[in-house]
Amino acid sequence: MDLETLQAKCLTCQRCPLWETRQHVVFGQGVPDAEVLFVGEGPGQNEDQQGLPFVGRSGQLLDKYLFAIDLDRSKNCYIANIVKCRPPQNRDPLPAESEACMPWLREQFRILRPKIVVCLGRIAAQRMIRPDFSVTKEHGVFVDKGGVAFMGTFHPAALLRQPQNKPLAFGDFAALRDKIGQVCTHTY
Ligand code: URA
Repeated sequence: MDLETLQAKCLTCQRCPLWETRQHVVFGQGVPDAEVLFVGEGPGQNEDQQGLPFVGRSGQLLDKYLFAIDLDRSKNCYIANIVKCRPPQNRDPLPAESEACMPWLREQFRILRPKIVVCLGRIAAQRMIRPDFSVTKEHGVFVDKGGVAFMGTFHPAALLRQPQNKPLAFGDFAALRDKIGQVCTHTY
């Protein structure tokens, strides 16, 4: 199955109650041969309205970080979320919602076969790396899982609230650029 076929299926998903309040399913965005996969938490209001990930203020910040290391969602990476539908009032996704939605991300992962996965924020890092992952303590550290390099960093929305962490996040993206140079074949 390719990503487009998977997306078409995902767009009618009713596996958890979030479908009832969504405007759009936010499946993901990027190139089909991406070697670097970014995973956020879930759509906010702007994403829900547009059907695309990270298009609000935090998305603009993410795009700046991507640009700084020559990544671009339309050229050489892919952006997805743990949950594809907006949790009301932007609350954290409930464990049952994440659980119900994870098969979509797993299938995206299987199709893309990324070399590197970057988890944006605690919710994604705790799902994808370790249930007790601490972004404060472990951001920017790559861990190998089955030949794929996983890293967690600050969620862009958290950086908007706590701009003092922006240099740390920038360091994580610099480490990402180095890692891409080491393990990716056609990202740069
Ligand atoms: N925050 C997320 O975690 N994901 C988005 O797509 C937008 C904001």
